[in-house]
Amino acid sequence: MIIEVKNLKKTYEGRVPTHALKNINFGIKKGEFVALMGRSGSGKSTLLHQLGLLDTPTSGEIIMNGNNLVLLDEKKKSEFRLKELGYVFQSYALLPELTALESVYLPLMLLGVTKKEYIKKASEMLDKVGLGDRLQHLPREMSGGEQQRVAIARALVNSPAILFADEPTANLDTESSEVILKLFKKLNKEIGQTIVMVTHEPDDKKYVDRVIWLKDGVIES
Ligand SMILES: Nc1ncnc2c1ncn2[C@@H]1O[C@H](COP(=O)(O)OP(=O)(O)OP(=O)(O)O)[C@@H](O)[C@H]1O
Ligand SMILES: [Mg+2]
Repeated sequence: MIIEVKNLKKTYEGRVPTHALKNINFGIKKGEFVALMGRSGSGKSTLLHQLGLLDTPTSGEIIMNGNNLVLLDEKKKSEFRLKELGYVFQSYALLPELTALESVYLPLMLLGVTKKEYIKKASEMLDKVGLGDRLQHLPREMSGGEQQRVAIARALVNSPAILFADEPTANLDTESSEVILKLFKKLNKEIGQTIVMVTHEPDDKKYVDRVIWLKDGVIES
C-alpha cells in the first residue's frame, strides 16, 4: 500500500458541526488509478484534502512509508507536499502572469534544482502532456483543456508519489475532458503514476482501476 487510511474522521465545527467524514478506512496500492465518487456533499473533496495534507483531520491516521502524516508539523507537511504530492483542481489555479514553462518549472525552482535542469525537466513534462509547442503561452492564450494540461505537468514535474485531482474535467467540454482522462490513463500505465481522482462523471469509471463510493461521509463500497 502506498497510502493507508485508518479511522479517519473530519468534523467541521461551526454553529452546527458537520460530520463530513465518519470513520474512513481504506488503502491505495502503488500504481493504482482510483476514482472517488458519490453524491454532492458526500465528502469527496474533504477526503481528498485530508489525503493531500491540505487540511487536518479531526482524528485518525494517514500512513505513508510507515509514517503517520497527520502528526507532521506544518513545516514538514509543506515539505512533504512539495516533494511527494501533486495536485490538480477544477479551476486550473495557474498564475496569470506566468508562461506555461514558468508555471511548470516553479516547483523545481523552489526545490533548488539548477536552472538548466529545471528548464529541461519542465519542457519535457510539457511535451509529455502534448504542449511542447505552447511553452511561452500565458494562461489567457490557452484553451481550458490546455491550461489544465499545464496544471497537470506542473503537478507531475516533481515525480510525486501520488497525484490528487478534484474534478479535473468539471470545467471542460466533452472532447477536452477525454483528452485529460486519456492523459491520466497514459501516465498511470506508462510511468505507473498513482492517481486519486474525485469525479461526478459516471463515464469516467471506464478509465480507472477502482471506484471508492462515498455516501454521507462513509465508504459505501
Ligand atoms: N469548510 C466547511 N465548513 C463546514 N462544512 C463544510 C465545509 N466544507 C464542506 N463542508 C460540508 O461537508 C460535507 C462534505 O463536503 P465536500 O465538499 O467534501 O463534498 P463533496 O462530496 O466534495 O461534494 P461536491 O460533489 O458537491 O463537490 C458537506 O455536507 C459540506 O456541506
Ligand atoms: Mg467536491
